[in-house]
Amino acid sequence: MPKDTLSVTDNRTGKTYELPIANGCIRTADLRQIKTGPEDFGLMGYDPAFLNTANCTSRITFIDGDKGILEYRGYPIEQLAEHSTYLEVAYLIMHGELPTKKELDDFTFLVMHHTYVHENIKTFMDGFRYDAHPMSILASTVAALSGFYPDAKHVKDARARRVQMVRMIAKMPTIAAFSYRHSMGLPYVYPNNDLSYVGNFLSMVRNIGEAKYAVNPVLERALDVLFILHADHEQNCSTTATRLVGSSEVDPFSAVAAGIEALYGPLHGGANEAVLRMLREIGHVAKVPQFMKKVKEADGPKLMGFGHRVYKSYDPRAKVIKRMAEQVFEVTGKNPLIDIAVELERIALQDDYFVKRKLYPNVDFYSGLIYEAMGFPVDMFPVLFAIPRTVGWCSQWEEMITDDEQKIARPRQVYLGPKRRDYVAVEKRKPSST
Ligand code: CMC
Repeated sequence: MPKDTLSVTDNRTGKTYELPIANGCIRTADLRQIKTGPEDFGLMGYDPAFLNTANCTSRITFIDGDKGILEYRGYPIEQLAEHSTYLEVAYLIMHGELPTKKELDDFTFLVMHHTYVHENIKTFMDGFRYDAHPMSILASTVAALSGFYPDAKHVKDARARRVQMVRMIAKMPTIAAFSYRHSMGLPYVYPNNDLSYVGNFLSMVRNIGEAKYAVNPVLERALDVLFILHADHEQNCSTTATRLVGSSEVDPFSAVAAGIEALYGPLHGGANEAVLRMLREIGHVAKVPQFMKKVKEADGPKLMGFGHRVYKSYDPRAKVIKRMAEQVFEVTGKNPLIDIAVELERIALQDDYFVKRKLYPNVDFYSGLIYEAMGFPVDMFPVLFAIPRTVGWCSQWEEMITDDEQKIARPRQVYLGPKRRDYVAVEKRKPSST
């Protein structure tokens, strides 16, 4: 009769141990009983960058990286992108089920009536230089919100938690739009709660002197779909940062601010910005083979927007975005950089280097082309990722806070530094070779 256990023999001692397996995992804490003697601390797992370590159980997002599957609460991303709206998906991610019509109306009303920020937030944002990166403004301002909402520290209070989550989802577009207007030297445009979530964001970004900004429905829907595609992505770098920081029981604004900072990096959400800069640098389809040659060299640049820790096939989000680019270009005119991107993809998908390493376009490869065609400057691209990811960060944070198995995050290390030694007076020290 097969058993859900793993038998391990420690060849240092000859002892055998039986470790339980649940959900395809052993608990690395169970390894601690494996010791060479009473002085031994016990065996640990060594896993830099969490390549094969689950840090939590989750019921929010499922990814099968080999098959290119992404589901929120069990619903395939393709179906949500086709039929749903961002606020409906946000409700689904937060609550676990799709809303009824009334639940969605109530949720929409709630979110759209928390879009304003305290006037002092504007003063705070004015403190940034004109050339500050909007992602830096966004992260700092979200962190500053904890000073405006002292009730946010009640992280064990379910009602207080939900209030902060709604506040964050509601205010993120406002802060994002203000960060854009600040960098352009334009006056801030206040939220218009009669518009949709995305329409209101576009109005705060674009409106100059119109009584009511007329949102283009194709662009509004395209951005709504992009928001759906970016809403959550299980335990990526920024979500893990949010969970780890939140595990100290700090307020959720501080935890999500940490997530935004993690997203800013070029290997994560900053990749959409890096892709555009790369495409501009390549400049012409004729130069693609030369660039691809460099990518394959030992110290060559990376093909930004390619590769993923989890997806070892085509990122399902990139498929939807690539298709949607055509609809957007019908309104905005074609972004000429798309030809370079398509040629990069064509070569990569048949080049041994990329095929062997299972490197495919990820979500960031085509999204920037749409953002650029819509008139956003490249600095805003990671911000456009952060707005919809807010519901993912908040929901993952709440799942962590309410999980009885979770504690303050505190990984172990393997110490390889000097052994204990005695202090030497400054006049007796020899110069070090470094
Ligand atoms: N261009 C060229 N080579 C690559 C690339 C790339 N974009 N990505 C991975 N490789 C190579 C890498 O050099 C390594 O080769 P070797 O085995 O010879 O050392 C191999 O592929 C495996 O890569 P890895 O760095 O071990 O993979 P990882 O899981 O640690 O990194 C990644 C994943 C996304 C950070 C990486 O693929 C990358 O840097 N991609 C470019 C940045 C990017 O597009 N990031 C957005 C990710 S999706 C949006 C999000 O959720 O953040």
